[in-house]
Amino acid sequence: MKDIGIMRVTDDVKWIGILDFDIITFDVVMETKYGTTYNSYFINADKKTIVDTTKEKFWGTWLDKLKQVVNPAEIEFVIVNHTEPDHSGNLRHLLNLAPKAKVVGSGNAIRYLKDLIGPDFESIVVKDGDTLDLGNKTLHFIGAPNLHWPDSIYTWLPEDRALFTCDSFGCHYCDDKMYDDEVGDFDDAFKYYFDVILKPFSKFMLKAIEKIKPLEIKVVCPGHGPILRTKWKKYVDLSEKYALEAVEFPEKHRVFIPYVSAYQKTGRLAGKIAEGIRQAGQIDVEVVDIENASMGELEEQVTRASGIIVGSPTINQNILFPVYKLFAAMTPLRDKGKLAGGFGSYGWSGENKKMIETNLANLKLDYFGEGVFVKFTPTQDEEEQSIAYGKAFGEALLAKDA
Ligand code: FEO
Repeated sequence: MKDIGIMRVTDDVKWIGILDFDIITFDVVMETKYGTTYNSYFINADKKTIVDTTKEKFWGTWLDKLKQVVNPAEIEFVIVNHTEPDHSGNLRHLLNLAPKAKVVGSGNAIRYLKDLIGPDFESIVVKDGDTLDLGNKTLHFIGAPNLHWPDSIYTWLPEDRALFTCDSFGCHYCDDKMYDDEVGDFDDAFKYYFDVILKPFSKFMLKAIEKIKPLEIKVVCPGHGPILRTKWKKYVDLSEKYALEAVEFPEKHRVFIPYVSAYQKTGRLAGKIAEGIRQAGQIDVEVVDIENASMGELEEQVTRASGIIVGSPTINQNILFPVYKLFAAMTPLRDKGKLAGGFGSYGWSGENKKMIETNLANLKLDYFGEGVFVKFTPTQDEEEQSIAYGKAFGEALLAKDA
């Protein structure tokens, strides 16, 4: 594995993170075509401090780096801005080598850690506005909950004008140059990361950005992706813009019709339903054969849609794999209450109807009507029913989105 060792952030702040070029999907579901980094930082204050650890898989590499900047036994504080194991995965191993270290985090973070790594560690709970004396430096804690877990905080180091933000202002982008002014264009990775991880929490993002506006920031140190030493304002501003758009202009009047179809019987229904939706009024309709769609494409379409109508044939008493993949791209947190429907062709039995409806209901979408399910080839009557279903769906969507 390629590694770049230690990177300078300021005279007293060092990046000791991990490059993960090989990861294909993050958290099993999020496409990471540029790989990712797990950023961890060392603050060389009178009281030696670590900000966030790394994923457990990289313990050996991370420990080697850590030892280059500090004797672990001298570490006094480990700041946990967020407890998801890509950042806290090596905390237990570190504490075994750092007996005087206290773990510092929000109340939620400390509670979660007791379940993640066991209860036997010393901790300090901090809330918005609290400070921590490091001797010649002072940490200031900023409450930034729900970005993207209830535990999240930001940590501000005024002496170095460095802001540590964990998942906020981060992205899955791995480049061994690490500095935002050297890695090239990563804007698409930044936008994709925002859309998938942070967009559902846009209101919280706007609150957090208001809190950091008065700070004289020199460098933003996120938990993933490039260190923002030059263009941090661009990425904070972009986050604010994306969050504002999500809050003020939620996706409306847009229907996603994903389907799979072995012999274009289900595919024909998709086209007729789309025709009906367009008859209902000004609604954007995306009809997509998802047989070869990537997780990223599915997530993008689902995120942007205010209505989703899912099509699958029944084959061997089951619906098909790409449709299960589509369900995996949905989340009740983001998609709860979206208008949903189903359709498909079947031969001997019609399990697709119940399976599509049940999965969408489990994901807390709002299932509309009975859907359109037909035996083998749709008849002309059934095509008309498909148009009528689409029209009724579209009218319900316009009423709901109004
Ligand atoms: Fe990068 Fe939510 O962990």
